[in-house]
Amino acid sequence: MREAVADAARRLAHAGVASPQVDAEELLAHALGVRRSALVTVSSVDPTALNRFTVLVEQRADRVPLQHLTGVAGFRYLELSVGPGVFVPRPETELLAGWAIDRLRPHPAPLVADLCAGSGAIALSIAHELPNAEVYAVELDQLAVAWAGRNADARTAAGDRRITLIQADAADPRTLAGQDGTLDAVLTNPPYVPDDAIVDREVAEHDPPLALYGGPDGLCVVRRLIDRAAQLLKPGGLLGIEHADLQGEALLAAVTADGRFRDVLDHVDLNGRPRFTTATRR
Ligand SMILES: C[S@@+](CC[C@H](N)C(=O)[O-])C[C@H]1O[C@@H](n2cnc3c(N)ncnc32)[C@H](O)[C@@H]1O
Repeated sequence: MREAVADAARRLAHAGVASPQVDAEELLAHALGVRRSALVTVSSVDPTALNRFTVLVEQRADRVPLQHLTGVAGFRYLELSVGPGVFVPRPETELLAGWAIDRLRPHPAPLVADLCAGSGAIALSIAHELPNAEVYAVELDQLAVAWAGRNADARTAAGDRRITLIQADAADPRTLAGQDGTLDAVLTNPPYVPDDAIVDREVAEHDPPLALYGGPDGLCVVRRLIDRAAQLLKPGGLLGIEHADLQGEALLAAVTADGRFRDVLDHVDLNGRPRFTTATRR
């Protein structure tokens, strides 16, 4: 088994995969139907599982995202179903969700919107970690809405009305119009990649373009969302926006220039790179 993993890791490294050893172990665990942490207890691999593993390694070497092959993406305390048609949630975004959860924890019943919800990662984490929160998850793309719906259904009891999934343009003032001036937090990980940016094959070939690209400077959707968030938030309400590492200053400037926010701050990720901007509605 160790040899199979080592061979696979070499194959993946040669194909340019960023984390070949971890991916090889994850794929073997998936082929065996166990968790990666349980691999140490496996003494042999039957030929059928080994064949499955070989096929998965070749797909990963062809730069199919690991999460599309295993069908799941971990996000904070959740395991979300993902696949073709939905953006794979990233570890960086856990920080934005965590920032909001920490600040909203003392609130008795926060009303929150996740604009551009994708698989539902932020919205579902808020609902999971803040049992009294009510969350609106807004997503434009039909396929992504279907994934978010599956994830919400898997996590909420029938009749649980704490998560409302809406298929709409999150920046359109008609979306959530009834909530204007009422929300305690608006969070968004919007499309922010500049149109001409070069991205990894996993991203270019498997994340939906609508999830990635945000115009020439990447901030076209973000600017519309800042305006909409200012309308949705109540005074004292929190705004959190993820951005690319080179957009920290531009985001600070855009939120400040709006004039309806105070305490505009930028935050770095675990690698010390600018990653999300936060502010409070005046
Ligand atoms: C970068 S992905 C983030 C998904 C999810 N929030 C996450 O962190 O994993 C951006 C998402 O925004 C959606 N989107 C793009 N433009 C939108 C708009 N105007 N209104 C609502 N959703 C939009 C895309 O379809 C995509 O699912």
